[in-house]
Amino acid sequence: MSDAPAILVAGGAGYIGSQTCKALKTAGYLPVTLDNLSTGYEQAVKFGPFVRGDLRDRALVQETVAKYGVQGALHFAAYSLVGESVGNPAKYYDNNVGAANAFASALIGAGVQAFVFSSTAATYGVPTASPIPEDHPTVPINPYGASKLAFEGALRWLGEAHPFRWTALRYFNAAGADLDGEVGESHEPETHLIPNLCKAALGTGAALTVFGQDYPTPDGTPIRDYIHVADLAEAHVLAIRRLIDGGESGVFNVGTGEGATVMQIIAAAEKVLGMKVPYSVGPRRAGDPPSLVADASRLKQAFGWRAKYSDLETIIRTAARWQRERPY
Ligand SMILES: NC(=O)c1ccc[n+]([C@@H]2O[C@H](COP(=O)([O-])OP(=O)(O)OC[C@H]3O[C@@H](n4cnc5c(N)ncnc54)[C@H](O)[C@@H]3O)[C@@H](O)[C@H]2O)c1
Repeated sequence: MSDAPAILVAGGAGYIGSQTCKALKTAGYLPVTLDNLSTGYEQAVKFGPFVRGDLRDRALVQETVAKYGVQGALHFAAYSLVGESVGNPAKYYDNNVGAANAFASALIGAGVQAFVFSSTAATYGVPTASPIPEDHPTVPINPYGASKLAFEGALRWLGEAHPFRWTALRYFNAAGADLDGEVGESHEPETHLIPNLCKAALGTGAALTVFGQDYPTPDGTPIRDYIHVADLAEAHVLAIRRLIDGGESGVFNVGTGEGATVMQIIAAAEKVLGMKVPYSVGPRRAGDPPSLVADASRLKQAFGWRAKYSDLETIIRTAARWQRERPY
């Protein structure tokens, strides 16, 4: 067995999970990926052992904890397509609540006491404040956000009943790819703006559709808070370390506190890439709030975390490199 403390990473073959495995390895941990490859890639598991299997497999989870001496778990393994969740809510409750609950319960049974959960800004619904603090009302407007909020609720009660401490990280818009090009964002289908915009510019994807230009924002397009995946990964390393050291449970936003409109992202991409981004303006997409910007002061205070790579230039440069090379 390796001397490095092992962290079980459910969903470590996915976009954010694989980047976090790299950050864990760099920080001196052994990231052990548990993934069923429903949306992930075996080629993304580069920084530690791979256990192929499902969150619901209690025996496999407990064997893996025992085999590696797992000290804590990170839970990325979920479905996250908002549109699909509206058409098939049962699929989202089954995986994002049912399987997540089975996973947490298996970990508790195996004596794991530290757990970090990938939550989302979609738990807030249509916000009435900007930037959004964690105590803003949570009124999700789609089953995806509702399933994530439901599991936050389960974590609260599991923490009351057992020696189990958890952190829910509510991410805003994860973007960019590994600075060294080792892992990146390869969702199929891809619904996120920045990879689609890179593919449109490179000619490897369709022209971009801007969903609505009549929002109450300076140029009419929605404002989002883009956080580089390497900064997000670092927040997970700090979160699991803090819990293993006895830190208390809680909810934290992960964002930069600054927003950019879709048109600002297009302009930045054209400048960084020196290429035109072909696009057309279509109707609004159901359920898109005008603005989602994090108040990340709680995270900064508790973790000493700072975004280092979340400037638009680094986000776009790394995302475009990934889309150009696309090893998987
Ligand atoms: N990408 C974003 O901008 C964003 C924003 C907010 C929250 N999140 C959350 O972050 C997490 C990771 O997102 P991502 O973009 O890396 O997604 P992803 O689809 O790339 O990764 C998810 C991984 O989990 C695995 N998985 C899913 N269900 C599983 C199960 N039952 N058992 C085992 N493995 C399973 C998949 O195979 C995949 O490798 C998700 O929970 C998502 O909801 C993402």
